Amino acid sequence: RSAPLVLGIESSCDETGVGVVAGTRLLANVVSSSMDEHVRFGGVIPEIASRAHLDAFVPTLQQALTEAGVGLEDIDAIAVTTGPGLSGALMVGVAAAKALAVATGKPLYAVNHLVAHVGVGLLGGTFTDGVPPNLGALLVSGGHTEILKVGSIASDVTLLGSTIDDAAGEAYDKTARILGLGYPGGPAIDRVAAQGDPRAFRFPRGLTQPKYMGTAENPGPHRYDWSFSGLKTAVARSVEQFEANGEPVPVADIGASFQEAVVDVITAKAVLACTENGITNLLLGGGVAANSRLRALTAERCAAAGIELTVPPASLCTDNGAMVASLGAQIVMDGGTPSGLSFATDSALP
Ligand code: KG4
Ligand code: ZN
Repeated sequence: RSAPLVLGIESSCDETGVGVVAGTRLLANVVSSSMDEHVRFGGVIPEIASRAHLDAFVPTLQQALTEAGVGLEDIDAIAVTTGPGLSGALMVGVAAAKALAVATGKPLYAVNHLVAHVGVGLLGGTFTDGVPPNLGALLVSGGHTEILKVGSIASDVTLLGSTIDDAAGEAYDKTARILGLGYPGGPAIDRVAAQGDPRAFRFPRGLTQPKYMGTAENPGPHRYDWSFSGLKTAVARSVEQFEANGEPVPVADIGASFQEAVVDVITAKAVLACTENGITNLLLGGGVAANSRLRALTAERCAAAGIELTVPPASLCTDNGAMVASLGAQIVMDGGTPSGLSFATDSALP
C-alpha cells in the first residue's frame, strides 16, 4: 500500500502529541502541553510532565482521530517515540501505544524523536515524487544541534557535525534567564529580538577559528561542529557590566545580537557541511526551527548556495505527534520490521 495510515504518539517531554498521516499527507495533529505547569519552576519537572501525559493522552487521541475523520480500526500502523527524552514521560506514551497495539492488533513501530524531527519535513506534498537524493537535515532543538546526511529517513542517517556543549535551544533558554525573560526562552528572545539591533554587540561564533575549521581538503577537528557555551558567557559578562555601571541592560539589543550570533554560525556551518558533502536538499527541523531569524537566514544562505530548503510550519517544528506518524509512515513504506511489544524506552537514545 502506497500511503499507509499511521497514528503517531509523542510524549518525550512536556507535549502530549497525537498525529495521523496518510503517507506524506497530514490528516491531524493535536498537541496538549503542560508547559504552563512548569513555568514557575523555570524548566520542565519530569514528574509533573508524566502525570500531565496520563491526563492528556486519551482526550488528545480522541481529538486527533476525530480531526482525521478515522477510527482506530482504519489505522494501518502505530508509531511511538521511544527516546531520547524524560524516562517517565516516554513511558506513558509507550505504554499507551502498546495498549493500543494489543487492543487493535495493529503493528507498532518504536521511533527516534530526533529522526522524527527530520521526518516531519516530508509532510505537506513537497516530496510527491518521493524523498530526493542528496538529502540533509539541520536539526536544532532544546537538546540537540546537528547537521545530518540522510540516505533514508527510515534507516540511514549519518551525523556530519553537532554541538560540543549546549544545544542551540538550551543556549536560548539560558540566555533568556540571564536577560530575565522567563521560560521557555526561545520564543521570548525571538520576540524581544525583533525590537533590538542585531549589530549592537559582536558576540562570539564558537569553533570558527582556523585551527578548528581547517580547510575542505584538510578539515580541522570541528569544521562542522558548534559551541554555544562561550556565547552564553559573553552575554552574561555584558549584562554584568551594565549592572555594575548602574546602567539599564539593553535587553532587546543583547537578545537580537545573541540571536544573530547563534543563527549566523548555525547556518554558516550547515551550508558549508552541505556543499562539501554533496547535499542539495536540506530539511530544517527541531523546536528552534520555529525561530523567525533562523528560518530567514537559512533560506537566504541556502538559496545563495543552490540548496533546496524545506522548512515545515512552526507548529510542526516543536514537539508533536505528526512528526512521529510521518517517520512511522516512512518506515512502513520502506518495509521496516515492526518493533513488537517488548521494547523499552531509552532516555539517552543517540
Ligand atoms: O524540539 P523541541 O520542541 O524539544 C526538544 O526536543 O528539545 O525544542 C524545544 C526548544 C526550547 O529550547 C525552546 O526554547 C526552543 O526550542 N524554541 C525556540 C523557539 N520556539 C521554541 N527557540 C528560538 N526561537 C523560537 N521561536
Ligand atoms: Zn523535540
